[in-house]
Amino acid sequence: MGNPDFLKTAPPFAERATQLARHSTPYRDPVTRIHWDRLSPHTFWLPEPALSLHGVPAFEALPLATRQALSHHEFARFLGAGIWLESLFLQRLAHAALKGPRATRIYHLHELREEAGHSLMFLEFFERAGLAEGDSNTRFDRLLTLLGRRLPFDSTLFWAAILLGEEVPDRLNRYVRLNAQGVCPVAVELCALHSTDEARHIAYGREILKHRLESVSRTTRTLLGRALSLLLRRFVHTFYYPPQDLYLRAGLPQGPWAARAAAHGARHQFVTHCIGPTVSRLRGLGLHIAWP
Ligand SMILES: [Fe+2]
Ligand SMILES: [Fe+2]
Repeated sequence: MGNPDFLKTAPPFAERATQLARHSTPYRDPVTRIHWDRLSPHTFWLPEPALSLHGVPAFEALPLATRQALSHHEFARFLGAGIWLESLFLQRLAHAALKGPRATRIYHLHELREEAGHSLMFLEFFERAGLAEGDSNTRFDRLLTLLGRRLPFDSTLFWAAILLGEEVPDRLNRYVRLNAQGVCPVAVELCALHSTDEARHIAYGREILKHRLESVSRTTRTLLGRALSLLLRRFVHTFYYPPQDLYLRAGLPQGPWAARAAAHGARHQFVTHCIGPTVSRLRGLGLHIAWP
């Protein structure tokens, strides 16, 4: 799709990369910035409306400690999925660090350092929270894993997929940051620090996509819209709809909890509220995104 050498040939692009790299300097390790002593298991780790079962009567009737435990497991899954996605991106960025013009190489190294910092922060959270290895070691979406490994680094689809993979979880980071009342301050700090770096990564991804879309044919644009609609659903499923075993590990009684979350109208509304701006921006670029 399009000119594979676009990173090498677009001067405005290099300028943007240099500008973003400046904003990434000086670097401060997020692990050292978080006030870890404020981590508590006796609070929610996500705002209650962000829980997948929020508003489901059978869930709301459970004791406070059980509902808080679900927030811990959902937050842990959110971080675990973040580690999975960042590890894919880190591998690709590391390969690209030796290629291309200096401005984009420097910017990619900044992203590499920042993504590594996020994953270290997530692992520190697991360590401090005493979460079992299995909580972070879940298998995530196989198609997304395959695409993350195989799509050509210079392709439009790769960068569009990266953009979605950053935007979809970042919308939840932002929600946590803006609805922090009653939420464990460490979880809020973590989401806020992550979101600050992601704003630059997302700006870079959008810039690439916008630039690439200027020169693609109508057919390519249509195909890209279809592909992104599919990827969007898979990212949303990964980050917003936990698997059934998570509910049981969180201590909820036996019951079809995953199916209840999937069928719950309030959950759909919450997800649409979160990712609506992402969908609108993609549509604003002329891509036909099917949602919901
Ligand atoms: Fe990240
Ligand atoms: Fe990122």
